[in-house]
Amino acid sequence: MRRWLAAVSITMAGVLGLAGCGGGSGGEASRSAAPSSGGGKQQVEVFSWWTGPGEADGLQAMKKIFEEKNPNYTFFDAAVAGGSGDKAKALLQSKLQANTPPDTFQGHAGAELQGYIKAGNLEDLTFLYDELKLKDVFPAQLVEQISVEGKIYSVPVNIHRSNVLWFNPKVLKDAGIAAAPKTIEEFIADLEKVKAKGKIPISVGSEWTATHLLENVLLGSLGTDAYNALFKPGADWSGPQMTKALENFAKIMSYAGDPQDDWQPAAKQVADGEAAFNIMGDWAYGYFHNPPEGGLGKTSKTDFDWAPAPGTEGTYMWLSDSFTLPKGAKNRDGAVAWLKVAASKEGQDAFNPKKGSIPARKDADQALYTDYLADALKDWSSDKLAGSIQHGVSVSQPWLASINEAVGLFIGSKDVKGLQQALADAAKANAQ
Ligand code: GAL
Repeated sequence: MRRWLAAVSITMAGVLGLAGCGGGSGGEASRSAAPSSGGGKQQVEVFSWWTGPGEADGLQAMKKIFEEKNPNYTFFDAAVAGGSGDKAKALLQSKLQANTPPDTFQGHAGAELQGYIKAGNLEDLTFLYDELKLKDVFPAQLVEQISVEGKIYSVPVNIHRSNVLWFNPKVLKDAGIAAAPKTIEEFIADLEKVKAKGKIPISVGSEWTATHLLENVLLGSLGTDAYNALFKPGADWSGPQMTKALENFAKIMSYAGDPQDDWQPAAKQVADGEAAFNIMGDWAYGYFHNPPEGGLGKTSKTDFDWAPAPGTEGTYMWLSDSFTLPKGAKNRDGAVAWLKVAASKEGQDAFNPKKGSIPARKDADQALYTDYLADALKDWSSDKLAGSIQHGVSVSQPWLASINEAVGLFIGSKDVKGLQQALADAAKANAQ
């Protein structure tokens, strides 16, 4: 039985912040009711942020199954570029406010989804859970993350792990590092060794990847119980342990290479041997491993390797992508057909090995999950749990926006005190 409860803290933070349109590009549809793609087929607009290398492969695999099973529908890919969905989520917010939702959209289980539910954006999917007996196949505690008052509002398609240290074995060897660092202190010492060899010690991408790094340094510095307590009402973000954790973050950031455009080019610096380390979710595995064009076609253990982020061994910092049925979806039946594929064993077993995630369903075909993914399945069955900050589990979208802003300011100012104050203020304003 999974031990979820200590790990998660659903902030019942009510209404989502009114994010403006982020001007995201990508395939935004402008369609009238009952859209048709010709030949009498109806489009189903599926909104996600899985456009980039490595990201898109899993979605394509599910799309194929969807179109085979539903000859009357075509899949309309409304993905908006930008890792972690920062641009996509802003655009989604404006579509929801204008009452022109996509037929289905990607949302993270936990506090992020709770925000959409509280804002009244989503239809209750209990009918689908009953019809497909989904309560039997998803972990009960995951269902809790996507429910309010016994009603269930999304279909989780995977479990991702946030706390992975990716590294280039050859760069480590050349720097005299025998094994992946297990503690934050060892990590900092190793970053220094790599620097001395003239390589990038740790690669980073766009701004959200700094918050991703921050959540990992918080978990590795504070420990799992103290990390999980950060999201409870009255949590203390002002104490000396937090100061120490943020000093660790500042120190690690001082070894970062030039920020890359998104997570993929930062991960690629590791695969190409330009950088030693990158801390990123396991979607990076899909990118490293998948054959070109979708991925880099790299060989695991030779071109890239992995370990739990320093100080976090024995804990799975989790997140889960799920799909929803927005109220007012133009093609509601088509969206339900999509959700059925997303919920199915066949859909999840096609999607996850390519996405670099493990299935949300408990009855997946374990033989399909090899290499890194075999490690992930094993750890998932025994590790303690912690909820990701950047990817929607532990904090609501308004809270995350404040954290991202604080981290963004810190990158310019390097002011640890200012960062701690801003994080403490954000917690005070949002934890409930
Ligand atoms: C996460 C999402 C993952 C992956 C990642 C990078 O928020 O849950 O599926 O897409 O962003 O874009």
